[in-house]
Amino acid sequence: MYNNLNELRTECLSCQNCKLCEGRTNVVFGVGNPNAKVMFIGEGPGEQEDLKGEPFVGRAGQLLDKMLYAVDLDRHKNIYITNIVKCRPPHNRDPEEDEQTACIGYLRAQTRLLRPKIIVALGRIAGMKLINPQLRITREHGIWTYTKGIWMMPMFHPAAILRNPNQTEEAFRDFIGLREKINEVCPEVYSTENS
Ligand code: URA
Repeated sequence: MYNNLNELRTECLSCQNCKLCEGRTNVVFGVGNPNAKVMFIGEGPGEQEDLKGEPFVGRAGQLLDKMLYAVDLDRHKNIYITNIVKCRPPHNRDPEEDEQTACIGYLRAQTRLLRPKIIVALGRIAGMKLINPQLRITREHGIWTYTKGIWMMPMFHPAAILRNPNQTEEAFRDFIGLREKINEVCPEVYSTENS
């Protein structure tokens, strides 16, 4: 058991639970407000994230930050961002099942410590792991489910939006839906103490 995110991070930084530890520059644990009520979960670090040790700092991350900003969310103020796997899969391939299984304990522990009211799964891989193994992201993005006290929604991955810009409008609609859900279940996210 861990008392706080820093203790958990320290443990995670020396993890050798799967083969991804062999190629990493940095473990990418997570970034954000340790009291955040809204968590964003991607699939795994890419090259820039591995180099910097922070999730979503490459091109996709820059787009994510812009979309967050549009609904008054900020990784350094009122949300927390992490990934299903904390180490970069080689050549940006999808994280394999055994790697996800080896790493999921860290995500569960992060979730237990943060106790979010809302989780946004960024992309198909995170959506399948967290919401529904059969998830079809093109059909089910933006749809809320409620499980064990947490509202969950899959969204398009920002890298997918970069590849396919005609998804931008739908993606923005999902962010507007997110803002509405925040106002409904945890409006304190937008209170001044968090900004
Ligand atoms: N894609 C992800 O899923 N996570 C990151 O941290 C970066 C890119």
